[in-house]
Amino acid sequence: MRTPVMDMFGLDAPIFAFSHCRDVVAEVSRAGGMGTLGTSHVTTEQLEIELSWIDRHAEGKPYGVDVLFPSAPPQEFENLTPETAKQYLPREHRDFVEALLKQHNVPEFSREESDEAFRHYMSNMTKTHREAERRLEVVYRHPQARMIVSGLGTPPAHVIERSHSLGLKVCGLIGHPKHAKRQTDAGIDIIVAQGWEAAGHTGEISTMVLVPEVVDLVAPVPVLAAGGIGRGRQLAAGLALGAQGVWCGTVWLGTVESEVPPELKRKLFAATSSDTVRSRCNTGKPTRRIVSAWSIAWESPAAPKTLPMPLQSMLINEAMERINKFKADALLTYPAGQIVGDLREETTVRQVVYDMLAEFSDTLDRLNDAVDR
Ligand SMILES: Cc1cc2nc3c(=O)[nH]c(=O)nc-3n(C[C@H](O)[C@H](O)[C@H](O)COP(=O)(O)O)c2cc1C
Repeated sequence: MRTPVMDMFGLDAPIFAFSHCRDVVAEVSRAGGMGTLGTSHVTTEQLEIELSWIDRHAEGKPYGVDVLFPSAPPQEFENLTPETAKQYLPREHRDFVEALLKQHNVPEFSREESDEAFRHYMSNMTKTHREAERRLEVVYRHPQARMIVSGLGTPPAHVIERSHSLGLKVCGLIGHPKHAKRQTDAGIDIIVAQGWEAAGHTGEISTMVLVPEVVDLVAPVPVLAAGGIGRGRQLAAGLALGAQGVWCGTVWLGTVESEVPPELKRKLFAATSSDTVRSRCNTGKPTRRIVSAWSIAWESPAAPKTLPMPLQSMLINEAMERINKFKADALLTYPAGQIVGDLREETTVRQVVYDMLAEFSDTLDRLNDAVDR
């Protein structure tokens, strides 16, 4: 099969992947789809290393890079110290987090470990537009990186212009039709219409409803369907809804290539499609993730109101590092979409792509047979 968006990048499969893991990105591109690397958690120096690695391993195939453009970015957040940050993080919130960790017997960090966690957060998280643009300057040095994806908000006009002048396509991820229109009016080349069943930041409209609405609204701009897509029947459904390809995130988490540690993979494989929650507890904006004692506590009436982005992630950063380091099972959580209920055991990226295409082909046969009758 061919769709215009496949021709745009010379792809063999209409499958786009989001991952924070370079191995997944390179392997999806090698398998004929297009991997896209998430950069919200890497320094610009590390990004250079990651992209050089993908260049070496993707066998000349194209890949994308996802950058967040958080709205209302306060520039002074770039230079905070653990002490100056406290003025933005209310004591009630800090006490709530500490009490929750204590209740689950999560050991404290030493002063050095705590300072290092803060330093790591400050250098890795994309908090401002300026930081996003620094990451883009790295991306521009890698010609196999053929697409910039804006995971949150419309990139500034000069970013879109510069990316276009260097031959890159710019793609915007949206959860509401009005955002899709804003992005295409700004000159975005591809829209990812992501339904509420998806992992990560999501809106409130399901994929089934959102995709055709956005396809009609932004035509002829190509649309990728996202949210709840991990198998061939869902790929067929995405294309039937008018999308030119699909954009998947959760399905890669259960692969041997993924960044997910074994204790979290066990949780993902045990989860059903009901075991995710859309909560502001990690970033301040609604993100879908695996339910755990952490998300449940933040939803309880005793919890303080979550802070706006980026303060919520600043507030909880060290707590997350402690939970992960000490493997506090009850509190462990990770972004995951409802399709997590389909992940049962470890597989490989290549197997996921193969299975999707095989089931897609069976689905087409089944539908054709039904029509012939
Ligand atoms: C672990 C994880 C982290 C994610 N983080 C981001 C992110 O930083 N930026 C972004 O644009 N999308 C992010 N997403 C969302 C994906 O881009 C994608 O839209 C979503 O996973 C698609 O729905 P699905 O999870 O049902 O496949 C993340 C997804 C996962 C699984």
